[in-house]
Amino acid sequence: MKPHTALQPTAIVIFGGTGDLAKTKLFPALLDLYIAGQLPEHFVIIGLSRKELTDEEYRSFVNESIHEKGHQHDAETVTEFCALFYYVTGSFDDTSAYERIKDELKKHDAVISQCANKLFYLAVPPQYYEVIFEQLHTNEVLALCDEESSWARLLVEKPFGRDLATAQVLEKKLCTLFNDEQIYRIDHYLAKEAIENIVALRFVNTVLADSWDADAIESIAIKLLETKDVSNRGSFYDAIGTLRDVGQNHMLQIFALLTMPPADIHDAHAIRAARATALRALESQTATSLVRGQYKGYTEADGVADESDTETYFKLSFTLDTAPWKDTTFTLEAGKALKERVNEAVITFRPRNLCSCAAQEDPHEHRNVLRIQFAPEQRIGISMWTKAPGFAFALREQELTLVANAAEEAASPEAYERVLFDCIVGDQTRFVSGDEVELAWQFITPILEKFKTLPLHTYETGSTGPITE
Ligand code: BG6
Repeated sequence: MKPHTALQPTAIVIFGGTGDLAKTKLFPALLDLYIAGQLPEHFVIIGLSRKELTDEEYRSFVNESIHEKGHQHDAETVTEFCALFYYVTGSFDDTSAYERIKDELKKHDAVISQCANKLFYLAVPPQYYEVIFEQLHTNEVLALCDEESSWARLLVEKPFGRDLATAQVLEKKLCTLFNDEQIYRIDHYLAKEAIENIVALRFVNTVLADSWDADAIESIAIKLLETKDVSNRGSFYDAIGTLRDVGQNHMLQIFALLTMPPADIHDAHAIRAARATALRALESQTATSLVRGQYKGYTEADGVADESDTETYFKLSFTLDTAPWKDTTFTLEAGKALKERVNEAVITFRPRNLCSCAAQEDPHEHRNVLRIQFAPEQRIGISMWTKAPGFAFALREQELTLVANAAEEAASPEAYERVLFDCIVGDQTRFVSGDEVELAWQFITPILEKFKTLPLHTYETGSTGPITE
């Protein structure tokens, strides 16, 4: 990471500049970076979408979005920040829109008499990726400046493809048109403090590092249960479902961090290769105990087809057939509109029973369970067996808990701040490589096929998910 590059003039173009992602994640993240002094001194943001808006109207739109999000910053700072925004009207397949983007970028370069770095953020539904890649290439938008004087990068949101075949086509296209160093494939989970902590926990703490394989670990359950329903994202969600939305990416990235071999966290190439090694272990593994569900009332959401059979919940298990994870059972479970928000990894250690410590009448197998909670707040708990006070030698389970410091947590960068900052400074560590994308789809695609043959269970909103027995 070279922090000084963050100070070079930069322009960011947001495709989908009036969309949900821009409103709810990108504007607040950019504002926080602005306030924290983490943006280059010369920085402009150009939004692109089909709506007819002037620069001034767009600034008001940004201001309102920030207001809606409940930011507490003073109005003057927000207005100053909004002045960084410009707007271009156009659709993604319209060549003239790309000419207008180029003109806008050149105009800003002329103001500073310098060729600024250019960052293109695809905050759009995945069906538009291909056309945007092609148009950017054909219209030479990334080639406005020579490579020596500045860089041009692409930020692409997941899901990257719909299955293995489409992801491969997309990847091929992307790699033919641009260099790999220019491509930043986002999985915002990799940019979360709590998820990064997996690496520290596993590799720095001897007590865990020495017991981190199938000999010691019986099962790992990764859960991403949400209370939120699909709300206004119906049409996006209905086209993909839960497995593609969070299973193929966020959950498999957690799996990768939990099972990858050690790697230098400061070396983007090494860490991405280590995550890919973990995902490669899934090759030719089959998931079992598949359950798919849909919450009642889902089809009434805006943008959702009346007869939709898209899943809003799934659960599945698998094992690996290679060391060091042969015979550990992995479970992934995710869903919307559920009773509680649960975002965690539960690691259950095998019982050793080295002493006959349990009471004769209670031949219980004593397992330690490590629970790494990522949200709503970071919390790490490990259950320990201790002697219950008293004459008898009875055991009881107690938990050692680490709770993140709320003030520290509030002060640490949000995932999207980190995504934007890392892209500006050119650090690909927290971005997914083409290999990782492909390996994840290799595992998920057969499950999607299998899903077509499975019943879709319905469940009540606010429940714990489908009841299958
Ligand atoms: C997004 C999914 O990638 O991740 C959403 O598209 C999901 O459907 C979200 O709600 C979960 O992320 P977070 O940061 O809210 O845990």
